[in-house]
Amino acid sequence: MLKIKATIAQKILECIKTISPDVDMSAADIAGWLEYPPDVSMGDLAFPCFRLSKTLRRAPVQIASAIAEKLNGGCEYIDHAENVNGYLNMTLSTKDLTARVLPEIFEKGDKYGAPTFGEGKTVVLDYSSPNVAKPFHIGHLGTTVIGHSLKKLHEFAGYKCVGINYLGDWGTQFGKLIVAYRRWGNREMIEQGGVDKLVELYVKVNNAISGNEEQGIAPDPQLADEARAEFHKLELGDEENIALWKWFVEISLAEYEQTYRQLGITFDSYKGESFYTDKMPAQVQKLRDMGLMQISDGASIVDLEQYGMPPCLILKRDGSTLYPTRDIAAAVYRKNEYNFDKAIYVTAAQQSLHFAQWFKVVELMGYDWYDQLVHVPYGMVSIGGAKLATRTGNVVLLRDLFAAAIEKVRQIMDEKNPNLENKDEAAEAVGVGAIVFYYLTNNRIKDINFNMEDALSYDGNTGPYVQYTYARTCSIVRRAAEAGVTVEGDLNAVTEPQEKELLKALSRFGECVEGAIRDYEPSEITRYILDVAAAFNRFYHDCPILSAEDESVRRLRLALTAATKTVLGNAFELICLRKIEQI
Ligand code: ARG
Repeated sequence: MLKIKATIAQKILECIKTISPDVDMSAADIAGWLEYPPDVSMGDLAFPCFRLSKTLRRAPVQIASAIAEKLNGGCEYIDHAENVNGYLNMTLSTKDLTARVLPEIFEKGDKYGAPTFGEGKTVVLDYSSPNVAKPFHIGHLGTTVIGHSLKKLHEFAGYKCVGINYLGDWGTQFGKLIVAYRRWGNREMIEQGGVDKLVELYVKVNNAISGNEEQGIAPDPQLADEARAEFHKLELGDEENIALWKWFVEISLAEYEQTYRQLGITFDSYKGESFYTDKMPAQVQKLRDMGLMQISDGASIVDLEQYGMPPCLILKRDGSTLYPTRDIAAAVYRKNEYNFDKAIYVTAAQQSLHFAQWFKVVELMGYDWYDQLVHVPYGMVSIGGAKLATRTGNVVLLRDLFAAAIEKVRQIMDEKNPNLENKDEAAEAVGVGAIVFYYLTNNRIKDINFNMEDALSYDGNTGPYVQYTYARTCSIVRRAAEAGVTVEGDLNAVTEPQEKELLKALSRFGECVEGAIRDYEPSEITRYILDVAAAFNRFYHDCPILSAEDESVRRLRLALTAATKTVLGNAFELICLRKIEQI
């Protein structure tokens, strides 16, 4: 549709030029104003002519009528055009639409819908990035799936992408963990209990340090000193502490990787915070040399008052570095290493100020790529509906959430389709997919209240529903192959409204991908998938496919089904939803 929109916009521009030859307007402007009317009775595309009224010094009704007159019979893509209250409503030619869209889908296959504007460019994406030895919980779902989806979207558009898991693998928490481990832990216990045990130790040592009135534990400041000392030893490279730290990171990573595997996510780099320790002094020195740093209460800061922000903290009183310091050093390193055209950071909206601050500092430091840094924030997740196990205090672990979803889907499958092959695999794909899809249905910035029942419903606008629809297209294509029905040769034009609506939905994919990249908004893909699924199911319900009597109708409908399979499959890839052929 992108091309169709562009072509029609070009036609409209030509018409406008006949009315007013030196109008200053591009086809792209017009394409941006073209709308999809909410109701097909208003045509397939509409152009609101009041936008031109001022420039052309004419009433919208007049403009719409004049353009309509020229388009009727004068544009192969348009069946007819008319003025309705100043809107130019256009009905697309089904013949042209069929001839244009279906062959393109078949020809391009898994590249159908892919923009090309990323070719030759590099994007670095920093996402997921959990803090080691702390639970990987539902709050991380956003950064993990939005981040990966943005990576897929950019790859689809031709960008070379580098996915970075900026592990929180450094900081005073490791001093605490080392103390706790020596006091209460042992190798066997961690080897068996994994990250859960590390979290337990961490919670225990924090409780001991700050005390816990309810449990009658008095604060223990000495323990805090001990932890600081152990971290300091770690910083100085103490062998034993380094070995422990490395091991803690490994144990945690093994656990995260389980979750990443379930999501089908891999990273290109695991360079975490620790990696940048020796890269910070140069940046701190640069800030100092440029006179950007000030001392405030003993700490070193960059004043950002004139930009309407609180100061950016660079060094604590004791000279130790802070979160922004590390991010600045990491950005400089990544620019040198990857020469990115864009660096995307996906985190909770609570960190928006942090990013705005250090982006500003990078600009003040004279790095001319400061405007290539992009923060993509997302809203909070809370949990309602079905109860979920909470292993560590009040947080819901991602792992437990996935396990609960898989378990539920397994039960549904046992009832609905007990003979399904590869049931475990299918249950995992549908269970995990349900959560991802549910999460990505909302605009990322909106807070969401997670409800397991809604997510897993086979009837609602859910992951299981769209995966079911995809499996349905697969089964039809399979049966067609068995019956020897093929889509080879010329196809008739669509005639039924359900066929045309489906075709229009399929044609919009490329446009939707561009929008999702422009807005950093995977939910645009998710909602697009729902549109296609709805259009396909209406078509499926009303139009017999393999049982259609006429051979050419059968072929056309099979072609529509096969095209739907391709488009849904391509779209699934972009939001980490697995394609399963049977469900
Ligand atoms: N580890 C951080 C956290 O869990 C997120 C890191 C985000 N990335 C960054 N470059 N600051 O809050």
